[in-house]
Amino acid sequence: MGVPALRRGVRCCCPYDWAATGKRWSFDIFVAVCCFWSAWWEAMWRAIRWIALSVGAVVVLSAVQACNIRGFFIRYEDEPVFHEPAGTAQQQQQAGTSQETAAGNDRGAAVYRQICASCHQPTGKGIPGVYPPLAGSEFLQGDPTIPIRIVLHGFQGRIERNGKVYNGVMAAWGTVLSDEDIAAVLTYARSSWGNTAPPVTAEQVREVRQKTQGRSQPYTEAELKQPL
Ligand code: HEC
Repeated sequence: MGVPALRRGVRCCCPYDWAATGKRWSFDIFVAVCCFWSAWWEAMWRAIRWIALSVGAVVVLSAVQACNIRGFFIRYEDEPVFHEPAGTAQQQQQAGTSQETAAGNDRGAAVYRQICASCHQPTGKGIPGVYPPLAGSEFLQGDPTIPIRIVLHGFQGRIERNGKVYNGVMAAWGTVLSDEDIAAVLTYARSSWGNTAPPVTAEQVREVRQKTQGRSQPYTEAELKQPL
């Protein structure tokens, strides 16, 4: 099919017809300008996209860093200060602990340091909003079957302590720790960091272990509030 001939002197802006009019040079210029123009825009957009992406990345990264530095993700109300939990005999004397409790404390302090301190911290203060404090805890210091049940079978669900909400899961330690270990660590925790609850005996732990034998789920707060 031939290209329809245009009358001489008629200007047409359709490049197809334009090319056919014989004015090749003007068509070539037109194409060159178009190519240049689109290449320029392409480069332009690439640059704009690149700048936008870099600026975005810098903004996001610095926001994350700023949050991190300000302790947005993990908040330490005050730095956990490590002190030898077992304490010296002299310190225990000062704290007024009896010989019997002090003996339990060595073992209890060791268990606490190995297992509990990573979450509840060596200071017993926990991490606000993540791990509740044991210092001043009512559940720890009240009816001894409550902390025994917690350590044996775990603890989960939403709780509120000192105005902070916790909704975590504490794992069960009943299969890892013996009755003596649990008695020792609870005795230690109940008499440390200003806590003043009486010791827990292995006999008490044994009794609770027997009564809760079939238990396979961590306890909730409501369940623990019911006497065993
Ligand atoms: C992996 C972290 C972790 C470890 C290890 C851990 N706990 Fe916990 N503990 C928690 C969490 C989380 C809760 C709160 C659960 C909830 O939100 O319902 C809790 C709650 C408690 C409570 C109840 C406190 C209250 O005031 O209600 C006691 C008591 C307790 N833990 C004792 C211990 C003892 C003793 C050990 C060591 C044998 C221990 N925990 C080890 C995470 C841990």
